Amino acid sequence: MVIGSGGREHAICWRLAQSTKVNEVVCVPGNGGTAQEDKCRNINPADCEYLDDIKGVQIYSQIATFEQVDFVIVGPENPLCDGVADAIWNCGIPVVGPKKDGAQLEASKDFSKKFMHKYGVACADSITVTTAEEAKKYIHEKGAPIVVKADGLAAGKGVVVAATEEQANAAIDDFMSNNKLGDAGQTIVLEEYLQGTEISVLAAVSVTPQTAQANTATIVPFMPSRDHKRLNDGAKGPNTGGMGAICPLEDVDDATMTLFYKNCMQPTLDGMIAEKWDYRGFIFFGVMLTKEGPKLLEYNVRLGDPETQAVLPLMDFDFAELGLAIIDKENNGALKKFAKITDENPAGTLAWKKGFICAPVAVSGGYPASYNKGYEITIDKKIVKECDAKVFIAGAQGSKKLLTSGGRVLACSALGSTFDEAWNNAYKAIKAVQFKDMFYRKDIGLPGAAESGEL
Ligand code: AMP
Ligand code: GLY
Repeated sequence: MVIGSGGREHAICWRLAQSTKVNEVVCVPGNGGTAQEDKCRNINPADCEYLDDIKGVQIYSQIATFEQVDFVIVGPENPLCDGVADAIWNCGIPVVGPKKDGAQLEASKDFSKKFMHKYGVACADSITVTTAEEAKKYIHEKGAPIVVKADGLAAGKGVVVAATEEQANAAIDDFMSNNKLGDAGQTIVLEEYLQGTEISVLAAVSVTPQTAQANTATIVPFMPSRDHKRLNDGAKGPNTGGMGAICPLEDVDDATMTLFYKNCMQPTLDGMIAEKWDYRGFIFFGVMLTKEGPKLLEYNVRLGDPETQAVLPLMDFDFAELGLAIIDKENNGALKKFAKITDENPAGTLAWKKGFICAPVAVSGGYPASYNKGYEITIDKKIVKECDAKVFIAGAQGSKKLLTSGGRVLACSALGSTFDEAWNNAYKAIKAVQFKDMFYRKDIGLPGAAESGEL
C-alpha cells in the first residue's frame, strides 16, 4: 500500500508494480496516474464504509488492515509527522517511513537544527528565537543576508532568504506578528546565509535499536539529483513545489559526495542511533555545496517530489526488495547487505542504469497562484515511448479520461545515454502531452536553471 496522491507516489507505485514479487499495489488515495497503472488500484477513504467513525492517521492503519497488505510506503510528510507509521506498525503491519519521533527532523526546523548541531552535521550557524524583539535584535547584530525559517511545516512557504535587514524584519512581522503561518511561524530559526549550488540526496534508512547495537544500522544514498523550484526559466519568478528534476548530476564529483557522506550523512546516522530511534524509511538531504564543502540545509523524512520522478527510473534493482530490506523483518541488517555496504565503501553499491533522466514538470496556467481545473489531458503514447519517456501524473484524476485537478499536473521523465539526449527526449515527449493553459519550463537541467544561492 502506498499513501499519497502526487507524482512521487505515481513513480513509487509504478516501480513497485514492476517487481515480480508484487501482486497488487493499492494507493490511498492515489491519482489518475496510479488508477491507470498495471497492478495498481486506488482506494478513496470516503468510499470505505468501514471507516465511518475513523479519523486522522487511523484511517490508513484501518485500510492497511482491511486490505491485508504486506507493507506500506508513506509518500508525503504530513501523515508521517502525525504518526501514521506508529499507527500502522501498532496493527502489526510494517511501514517504510519513520515513526513520529524521527519525523520531527522535518516537522520542526528548530528540532532538526538542534539535531545537526548536537551530532556535528555540517550546516549553517543558527539560533532559535520565540519573540519578534529577540529576532530583530539578532538580525541587526548579524546583518544581511540572513535566512529566516518558520519552525513548523509550511508547505514550502516558511523560508525567506533575506537580502536586506528590512526583508528579514518583514518576514519576522509576517510569521510572528501577522500569524501568516499560524503556529508554524511562532518559533523561528535564524540562519547564516550559504552561497553555492544545491543538490538533493535521497537515501534509504534502516535504523532500529537492535540493528544499532549489532552495527548493522545504515543509510544508503541514491544518486544525487536536483530540483528546480522557481516558476520561470533562469531560476526566476515565484517559488513552486518543483518545476522539474534531473539525475544524476554532471557538475558534482565523487570527492564532493565523499565529503557529504563523511560530514553530513554519517553524523546523521550516528545521531539516529544515539537517539535510539526506530527509523526505517527514506530521508532527503537538502544540501548546499559551498566553498567550504557540502552543508546541510534541511532534512525531509520522505522522498522528494519531483526528484523521485527522476531518480526511480534509473534504479536497476527491485524497489519492493529495497522496501523489504529497509523494514528488515529479521532485524539482521538486510539493507546493509542489500546495498553491499562495507567499512571501505560506506555508501554501498546499489545498481543504477547508465544514463541520465531529465524530468520537466507541466503545471496548470496561473500556478502557483490561482488556476482552473478540469481540463482534459491528451497524451500521444507512441511519441512518449519513442522518446524513452514516462509520464508521471500528479494533479489529475480519472481512469479513462484524465482531467487536471491540481497545480503541478505531471512530470515527463525521459532517459538518455547523455544528459543532452535525455533533455531532447524529455522536451520532445512533453510536446506530445497537451491540456489547456499547460505551462512548463524550457531549461530544466541547463546551466543557470537551478537556484544558485546568489541574491
Ligand atoms: P529549506 O526548507 O530549509 O530547505 O529551505 C528552502 C530553500 O531556501 C532551500 O532549498 C534553499 O534554496 C534556501 N535556503 C535555505 N537555507 C538557506 C541558507 N542557509 N542559505 C541560503 N539559502 C538557503
Ligand atoms: N523537492 C523538494 C521536496 O520534495 O521537498
